[in-house]
Amino acid sequence: MSKLKIALTKGRTEQQVVPLLEKSGIDCSGLRDKQRRLIFDEDENFEIILVKGQDVLTYLNNGTVQIGIVGSDILEEQGNYQYQMLDLNVGRCRFVLASGKNFDPSASKRKIIATKYPNITRNYFKRIGEDVEIIRIEGSVELAPITGLADAIVDIVETGTTLKENNLQIYAKLQPVNTRVVVNRLGLRQQKKQIYNFINQLQQANEKFSEVVK
Ligand code: PRP
Repeated sequence: MSKLKIALTKGRTEQQVVPLLEKSGIDCSGLRDKQRRLIFDEDENFEIILVKGQDVLTYLNNGTVQIGIVGSDILEEQGNYQYQMLDLNVGRCRFVLASGKNFDPSASKRKIIATKYPNITRNYFKRIGEDVEIIRIEGSVELAPITGLADAIVDIVETGTTLKENNLQIYAKLQPVNTRVVVNRLGLRQQKKQIYNFINQLQQANEKFSEVVK
């Protein structure tokens, strides 16, 4: 039987999901001491690859992996709502509109908004009936209003530390975000039993985890 392949979003998601994977019985010893490695095949039933969140669906849709673990922010931005099998109680954060203390959200001038999430930003301003210019930024979005590149940002906030340390404040709370498990359609047909077993085990670990954090 071939191993199930999982594309796991590296960074914060990885740190929060690895304990859940371990609780579901998957050997993650390689991930615990990974250095610069990107592929982990210590477990006899699973192979885990570490990828950037934006690339998870590329690996999944291409069939290179059967399972992806990725934030709902990325799924929503990339417009993919298919085959989401499980919501995990980790990676909880929220989209916000933020800027410095002089920002006036009700000002009538056409605002410039910097973001890593142009589609989510466009949809938000469309919903509230405001026309804005969107500038796409790849990272450290908080710099945009400070340097004058943009009037405000739409970004995700988890602990709020980054906003606070850069003297930015929240002007509107948008939708919440959490980590999702997504499955490749063909993989689900070909390795149905293995995938459902994995989802069930992960769900149980997730429930135990949420009891602990309650
Ligand atoms: C995300 C987000 C904020 C930060 C918020 O960035 O874009 O910058 O986390 O987290 P906090 O509320 O806990 O401070 P990430 O760390 O993914 O880095 P990036 O900006 O390089 O994408």
